[in-house]
Amino acid sequence: LDNGLALTPPMGWLTWERFRCITDCKAYPQECISEALIKRTADIMVKEGYQAAGYNYIAIDDCWLERERDANNRMVADRHRFPSGMKALADYVHERGLKFGIYQDYGTMTCAGYPGVLGYEEIDVKTFAEWDVDYIKLDGCYVDSTKMDTGYPAFGKLLNETGRPMLYSCSWPAYQDKPNYDSIERHCNLWRNWGDIDDSWTSVTSIMSWFANNQDELVKHAGPGHWNDPDMLIIGNFGLSLDQARVQMAVWSVLAAPLLMSVDLATIRPEFKEILLNKDIIEVDQDPLGKQGLRVWTGSNCEIWTRELFDGSYAIAFVNLREDGAPYTLSVRAHHMKIPNQTYKVKDLYKEEESRVFGAEDVFETRINPTGVRFYKFTKCVSHGRRIRANK
Ligand code: DGJ
Repeated sequence: LDNGLALTPPMGWLTWERFRCITDCKAYPQECISEALIKRTADIMVKEGYQAAGYNYIAIDDCWLERERDANNRMVADRHRFPSGMKALADYVHERGLKFGIYQDYGTMTCAGYPGVLGYEEIDVKTFAEWDVDYIKLDGCYVDSTKMDTGYPAFGKLLNETGRPMLYSCSWPAYQDKPNYDSIERHCNLWRNWGDIDDSWTSVTSIMSWFANNQDELVKHAGPGHWNDPDMLIIGNFGLSLDQARVQMAVWSVLAAPLLMSVDLATIRPEFKEILLNKDIIEVDQDPLGKQGLRVWTGSNCEIWTRELFDGSYAIAFVNLREDGAPYTLSVRAHHMKIPNQTYKVKDLYKEEESRVFGAEDVFETRINPTGVRFYKFTKCVSHGRRIRANK
């Protein structure tokens, strides 16, 4: 969508994967979907370096609404969990230099059963603009999916007509068998292509293989302003080991994916925080060329994922899906990685190895932990051959 937004994949934090539809603030005061959770998270994002690293959206997913609209048919935020109202919460977020996101659903109800926008599109878009919302995630439960091809663009047009820049996240293709990506790319800044991520390694790898199996179609549609969305980062929660969390961060950055954390930033362990804040990997994700990478090789239950970057360098992730024990050594050549035959300087983006030089005809060896990753940036070496000879 050409609205000047999301020139690189959006980065931020979203409630859903970690906090789902927890609404009982008495039993779970630290976890319920509430203004307290958003304020606490916004403060941490600012104080603990997430904002500085680029994570600038904070967004509420499902379960923020009252069950009924008000007498004027306007949406009402849950009166107990959002006592100050959404405008005040948006102000709080904006005062900290962050941007404010909210969820709705194109159907009659949200997936969790709260009132959806269908039939109320105009008044809802107006309300979002009045609340100073910066990001809308529009889900697709409780509506005939054939209606989406016109419905999502129409809703986007209303957003645009408010004059307020609002990033538009669509779930449209996730609900269709054969999505029209040419249209989706024109009407949305990002779109959920497939099923929801859960808190497990199985979920992460199933998303990776779905994206790889459909990559020829998907990569054509990614670029500045319009991105495929493999769903939230689950790093720091219960289901992934440290190695597996590193895989998600690496592969999502190769995919030019939106980086939307869904984790309790108040309790996240430092080693997971370090992954989320890895500058070199964020730089890969945010590369200005905006070219989505590919799974370029599979073998021995390992995978190579390669992304070309704006300066002609390559981000290359070696993923080991094996669960058999010791780290596994892969030996590959440039053509396996789908990169030109030339000399590179190779930098380990997780900083476990010293940089090395990889020559045109060399074999590249790397040893990868079970369900782990090695992630490198390959930068072409500038040849100094003549100057060196001349000096001799
Ligand atoms: C389905 C979406 O795909 C999820 O990301 C989340 O928004 C839930 N609905 C909320 O009900």
